[in-house]
Amino acid sequence: MDRGTWHVMAGLPLAIRLAGFGLRRPRYANPGRNLAGTVEAVGAHVTGFAVGDEVYGTSTSTFAEYAAARPAMLAPKPANLSFEQAATVPVSGGTALQAVRDHGRVQAGERVLVIGASGGVGSFAVQLAKASGAEVTGVAGTGKLDLVRALGADHVVDHTRQDFADGGTRYDVVLDTGGNARLSRLRRALTPRGRLVVVGGETDGRLLGGSDRGIRAALLSPFLRQQLGTFVASERAADLIALTELIEAGELTPALDRSYPLSEVATAVRHLLDGKTRGKLAVSVSPARMHTPGTGSTP
Ligand SMILES: NC(=O)c1ccc[n+]([C@@H]2O[C@H](COP(=O)([O-])OP(=O)(O)OC[C@H]3O[C@@H](n4cnc5c(N)ncnc54)[C@H](OP(=O)(O)O)[C@@H]3O)[C@@H](O)[C@H]2O)c1
Repeated sequence: MDRGTWHVMAGLPLAIRLAGFGLRRPRYANPGRNLAGTVEAVGAHVTGFAVGDEVYGTSTSTFAEYAAARPAMLAPKPANLSFEQAATVPVSGGTALQAVRDHGRVQAGERVLVIGASGGVGSFAVQLAKASGAEVTGVAGTGKLDLVRALGADHVVDHTRQDFADGGTRYDVVLDTGGNARLSRLRRALTPRGRLVVVGGETDGRLLGGSDRGIRAALLSPFLRQQLGTFVASERAADLIALTELIEAGELTPALDRSYPLSEVATAVRHLLDGKTRGKLAVSVSPARMHTPGTGSTP
């Protein structure tokens, strides 16, 4: 479960309705998107998966005992994770991987600032930047600094007491996943040729929500020496396989705050919105099962 769950449920910001999630009402009454489970049945043309395989990935309507998924959105579940842990990875871990590797292009020895380091995407981004050999600073609220340190951050900034853009340290890469800092402030935290990746941020804006900063960043970037940008994460098996390798190598561990039973999904969403979540929440279904209907078919 992640922030997207709520956006899809609420149809907010309104832009999400144009992105295929339902114009006048939700296209999917069940907003679950992540899954981890055991393959229960496979379609006639499916290769690479067999009944009994433990897999994880993304689909639609996954707050359920059974979920249908396209094979291209699945990968073998990391052997050292529980189903609950694995189910926290696909959307948030995949987004963090694309932010760190593809858009931030984080290199060993670089200074990286992760804003929202205690959150779903941020908790993965801290670990992925560390695994790339970067020196990582995580920004979080007072009560979550211990989590960010435990994730491996070299330094932490408490955003209720300190300003990450006070000029003390300049960062080669800033990955922004929370707090909606102004672009001018984010740029002050960057080196003269630094790279900013706006992943997201929550606002009350009904039309674009937190995405307007990312759009402005991309429009401004061609006129600057600093590189500013944003992206919409793609869901793909290749990234899940890359994440599995890091997880099984012990370089990446989901920060699972707590699991809720399927009957308490609504409570879990409320928990997510109250801002107290440390890392990720999971919804637990027992036993976990899955049906893969066939290559390229829509669930
Ligand atoms: N671009 C994409 O494709 C994509 C994909 C996934 C998610 N997103 C977006 O990315 C954002 C993060 O998603 P998420 O799932 O990681 O959300 P999340 O789990 O709610 O994490 C957001 C974090 O922001 C931090 N935060 C709150 N106020 C802050 C402030 N003033 N300064 C600094 N940090 C602050 C919170 O940590 P503290 O409590 O410690 O402050 C929280 O942990 C959301 O807006 C989501 O919609 C975008």
